[in-house]
Amino acid sequence: MFNHVPSYPGDPVLSLNQDFNADTRTPKVNLSIGMYFDESGRIPVLRSVGSAKNELRAGHGPHPYLPMAGLADYRTQVQQIVFGPALADRLRDRIATIQTLGGSGALKVGADFLKQYFPSSKIYMSDPTWDNHRVLFEGAGFEVNHYPYYDWTTGDLRFSDMCQTLSTIPEQSVVVLHACCHNPTGVDLNDEDWTQLASVLRKGNLIAFVDMAYQGFGDGLKEDAAGVRKLVEAHVPVLIANSFSKNFSLYGERCGALSVICDSSNEKDHVLGQLCAKIRANYSNPPAFGATIIARVLGDPALAQDWMKELKEMRDRMHRMRSSLYSRLEGKISEEARARYIRQRGMFSYTGMTKDQVVRLRNEFAIYLVESGRLCVAGLNDGNVDYVASSIASVVAG
Ligand code: LMR
Repeated sequence: MFNHVPSYPGDPVLSLNQDFNADTRTPKVNLSIGMYFDESGRIPVLRSVGSAKNELRAGHGPHPYLPMAGLADYRTQVQQIVFGPALADRLRDRIATIQTLGGSGALKVGADFLKQYFPSSKIYMSDPTWDNHRVLFEGAGFEVNHYPYYDWTTGDLRFSDMCQTLSTIPEQSVVVLHACCHNPTGVDLNDEDWTQLASVLRKGNLIAFVDMAYQGFGDGLKEDAAGVRKLVEAHVPVLIANSFSKNFSLYGERCGALSVICDSSNEKDHVLGQLCAKIRANYSNPPAFGATIIARVLGDPALAQDWMKELKEMRDRMHRMRSSLYSRLEGKISEEARARYIRQRGMFSYTGMTKDQVVRLRNEFAIYLVESGRLCVAGLNDGNVDYVASSIASVVAG
């Protein structure tokens, strides 16, 4: 019956992570998947999360279904974190926020919603972008196109080419953007760029769909959301997919959200209802555990403060590992290639290494990067950075 089903070639990130786990060599280093590992190479359980978990365990409550839109307290906290208290309070009646299965779930529900209400719109995403963006939007039935973003020769942002392209695309096209810590390049828009982009989007009557998976991993919670908030203030129609997988170190709990900025309270009610309809048709309602932890942490001023401190510690460690790799590569690779490690921001460095070099790193040194040359700096630590630097130097030298 099923013999016409073709084999699945695998996912460039998730399948590689499984290969890493199955690799029995030592030493081995996982710089592929976007997960934060601490100095001892472990996925941390944040103190704030641990405290909230202990309190929940003490509760031993029942496990009812959540509403289709998710946990109310969680959705309120999402708005506070994504938009900041002032904007969130001002727009409270106009933001439709639903709890989703991670950031990917937010992108998928948002894509399904857009496909139904903007059936002839096309999608434009950065070149390059996270591999799964294309999969998600094509899966929702969209035609996917790209706008220029990254200059492979200089490692810079092609901002004027990006604006030029976006100013020629059809009205109501959907422009997929990365709020911060661009995946995979680590190259972001600056403040002025966001202002200019807002005006291009407004003029073209375009819809922005912003993916914010790394809030707090670039410069800070507020700083990393500045671009999104700017688009909202400029009255650009915006959908925002945010994720707590990385900044709460709660990957498997699938905690994300989708927020849609509407023009009125009435419009918000309609949009929220239709988002719930999409959820009901897909998975009925979201799981409770992770969202309850996050709502508990963010709803308690002392725990929230502690979480922000822990987030800063993760961010600072990633910055330190960038500098560490940079200094160890001195004289070993070109200055231009070396500078990328400190110029780029967030969890990833786009190293410029070729697929052959990445494969050699994996085969000869058990060091895993994504084949595009993307390296997750959060997998580096003081114990492996020398080994990684000398291995990179060796494959780059030929
Ligand atoms: C990544 O890009 O490595 C992460 O966002 C994990 C994923 O789902 O691909």
